[in-house]
Amino acid sequence: MRALSGIKPTGPLHLGNYFGAMKQHLELQAAHEGFYFIANYHSLTTVKDADYLRQLTRDVAIDYLTMGLDPQRVHLFRQSDVPEVTELTWILATVTGKGLLDRATTYKDFVAKEIVPNMGVYCYPLLMAADILIYRSDVVPVGKDQLQHIEFTQDMAGFFNQTFRPVFKRPEARLNNAPVVPGIDGQKMSKSYGNTIELIGDAKAVKKKIMSIKTDSTPVEDPKNPETCSVFALLKLLAEPEEIAEWEQRYRKGGTGYGTAKQRLFELYEQHFGCRRATRAQWAARPDDVEDILRSAGRRARAVAQELMAEVRDACGIVRATE
Ligand code: ADP
Ligand code: TRP
Repeated sequence: MRALSGIKPTGPLHLGNYFGAMKQHLELQAAHEGFYFIANYHSLTTVKDADYLRQLTRDVAIDYLTMGLDPQRVHLFRQSDVPEVTELTWILATVTGKGLLDRATTYKDFVAKEIVPNMGVYCYPLLMAADILIYRSDVVPVGKDQLQHIEFTQDMAGFFNQTFRPVFKRPEARLNNAPVVPGIDGQKMSKSYGNTIELIGDAKAVKKKIMSIKTDSTPVEDPKNPETCSVFALLKLLAEPEEIAEWEQRYRKGGTGYGTAKQRLFELYEQHFGCRRATRAQWAARPDDVEDILRSAGRRARAVAQELMAEVRDACGIVRATE
């Protein structure tokens, strides 16, 4: 069983990315062969600063290693170390109807917001399908928001197989049941809303953010609704079940202020993530080792991709001089 997933380096990783994506990737490493890549070509649709993109790419690798990704078990690599994905993107484009891409929710979101998307945004599902198909992936662990992309990938594999001959395996999504993690303003936590809590952030800055999580103005002594409270939603992700039950009671009973819950949330953050600051600093101080990990995994991934691409070219009649 080969599991594959990608994470876009478009900003510092946050708790939404951890609970929605990274946690599952780390859990799967024990049971599956893992291919996890840093989707830097994907980031180019929005990130237009070369130094920043280089830095974000490195930071995603450092964050994965810090949180326990084992490079002996899992291939952690850069998307761009396998340039064949861009070739496959083109080939998939030639068997895919434009109507399919018109239906992509990411593209439709841009249109709804009246932002004219670049062609990268429009073609994003093709590149994502190429990412998945090129490694003959069996399962793709993603959040619900990515399900449409996986369905498109299955469609595109079918279009190619029917047009030429069966080359691609049908990958399956593996949906996590992670809830949508709220940001400090109560909306979905997202880099684009500026409401994130960083995965391994500076203690002072994180504390300030946690203390500023938006709550309603129920007085301390009154009962509070845990279901509509972002602080409680975050506590639920970090605390043990008995403690969650206790907090639920305290909310419903009244007499506990949001400030107390926030204080506890910060402590839990420190236990889960803050405690890894030193490990992160150690990885950050070893850029050559990080580079070696990415490079050697990239080589292995590329070998798989090259073998698949030879079959794809043969199936559709593309001739290339042998290297
Ligand atoms: P962002 O919205 O910050 O740009 P991305 O779109 O890059 O995040 O998301 C990367 C992964 O993290 C996706 O698989 C997505 O499902 C997950 N993710 C992002 N934000 C959240 C959130 N608030 N709650 C749950 N999962 C999330
Ligand atoms: N589109 C995914 C996201 O926004 C990232 C991604 C790119 C991906 N290529 C992939 C995820 C291939 C799974 C498989 O989170």
